[in-house]
Amino acid sequence: MSMVQTDYIVIGSGIAGLTTALSLGRTGHVMILTKAKQEESNSWRAQGGIAAAVGEDDSPILHQEDTLRTGVGLCNVESVNMLVQMGPNTIDKLSEWGTRFDRSDDGWSLGREGSHSVSRILHVTGDSTGAGITSSLLEKVHEQSNIQLHPHTVVQELIVRNGICHGVIMMDAERKQQVLTARKGVILATGGCGQVFRYTTNDLVTTGDGFALAHRAGAKLVDMEFIQFHPTALAVEQNPMFLISEAVRGEGAFLVNDLGEKFMKRYHDWEDLAPRDVVSRSIYTEMQQGRSIYLDATGIGDSFPERFPKIFRHCMKHGIDPRTDLIPVTPATHFIMGGIQTDLDGRTNIERLFACGEVACTGVHGANRLASNSLLEGAVFAQRVADSVSALPDLLMQEINFPEYVHDYTDPEQAKIWKNEIREIMWDHCGIVRNRERLETGLVHIRQLRDKIERGFFECRNMLITAQIILESALAREESRGGHYREDFPETKDKWAEKHHVI
Ligand code: SIN
Repeated sequence: MSMVQTDYIVIGSGIAGLTTALSLGRTGHVMILTKAKQEESNSWRAQGGIAAAVGEDDSPILHQEDTLRTGVGLCNVESVNMLVQMGPNTIDKLSEWGTRFDRSDDGWSLGREGSHSVSRILHVTGDSTGAGITSSLLEKVHEQSNIQLHPHTVVQELIVRNGICHGVIMMDAERKQQVLTARKGVILATGGCGQVFRYTTNDLVTTGDGFALAHRAGAKLVDMEFIQFHPTALAVEQNPMFLISEAVRGEGAFLVNDLGEKFMKRYHDWEDLAPRDVVSRSIYTEMQQGRSIYLDATGIGDSFPERFPKIFRHCMKHGIDPRTDLIPVTPATHFIMGGIQTDLDGRTNIERLFACGEVACTGVHGANRLASNSLLEGAVFAQRVADSVSALPDLLMQEINFPEYVHDYTDPEQAKIWKNEIREIMWDHCGIVRNRERLETGLVHIRQLRDKIERGFFECRNMLITAQIILESALAREESRGGHYREDFPETKDKWAEKHHVI
């Protein structure tokens, strides 16, 4: 096995990984490892935008209030404060790095999304915000000779000795195994785990690798029961499901059932712009009563193709013209609020192992993430991680014995079968509405699969570990709060407000 040394190892090529790498580029050599094509990430797919208090009628305090209210008592106030205060400067930084946010005659063009009290969502080319930001960051990364990006490179294990992370064991694009060590630190920016569920808006790469790598290495995971289900995925069976951005509702579209009722009136004062968990559960309730659900965006009319070009093209491909037709929608798994427990500088409980972006839990999202706070979180905390990891002295490399790690991922068809089994189990047993019986049955099924899935099936094993942790966490929280709803414990309980389930 060959061995290579660098200063920083960044795992993941979404907004968090790329921002970390660019922020570190001035201070040393950075290797970005990403398991598929460089563009394959949830960041790239993000449509609606990135929230920041840049509007005339806005302030970081207001942004903080909206974030805390939506997080239902479980946010870390200090982290939220950091997020909202650094928001406007982060937008400037991204602009400096080449992102061209949409503008109107009088300044930023700001959209509205659920649970925001004002319009504060910046966007790029209408509904291609993630692609707009990450393509600019990628361009910048490739301009820097001390940052190398390695696509199709799978990290198999973190190398941790005596509580210190020294590097990774990885399989490169030629399927050669290598040990890569870091003089400064390893940063996990691997994104989320939407693919653990049958219906998801998340990219195919989101198999929970970062959670599983961290867990196997002894890092703490927290709040893993909190899953966000986006209310409006296009109701056409595909993986991933195509998202109809919440920004469409922000422009005046509304949900109707097949009786033509604007049913959100019955569920929340903010109606279609209520927090996502409320809207998804309301749709679920309607569907349980046999209703089909649609988004009526006809009021946006002829401006739809210009404001939402990507959504327009995709709907038209499926024979739906949003200017005149109702769009069939359904909730789908979208985001995990929990993750690897970190402090405000992205430090985990393992020395020299850092995390940022969706894989990390800084506590900014609490029990339910405010729309469009995730791209912001990725960019804000990446800069903080970069500041703290670059300040570390170089690690003196010790003699380390690296075990030969077997990786015989040779049967993609078998992997697909096992992945689908996991996804079915999680959707059926740990979905929008949960209860003890279903969660326990889900755990039994997952444990049975654990005995079947062989060691070399890297992604399947990671999905399995992540699924098990989510189920165990969901079982432990005997209340309902934000993205975690238990029909056997429907109340939000004060005594759980301070509790974080750490695994
Ligand atoms: C959306 O465009 O609706 C998704 C934005 C987000 O997940 O915050």
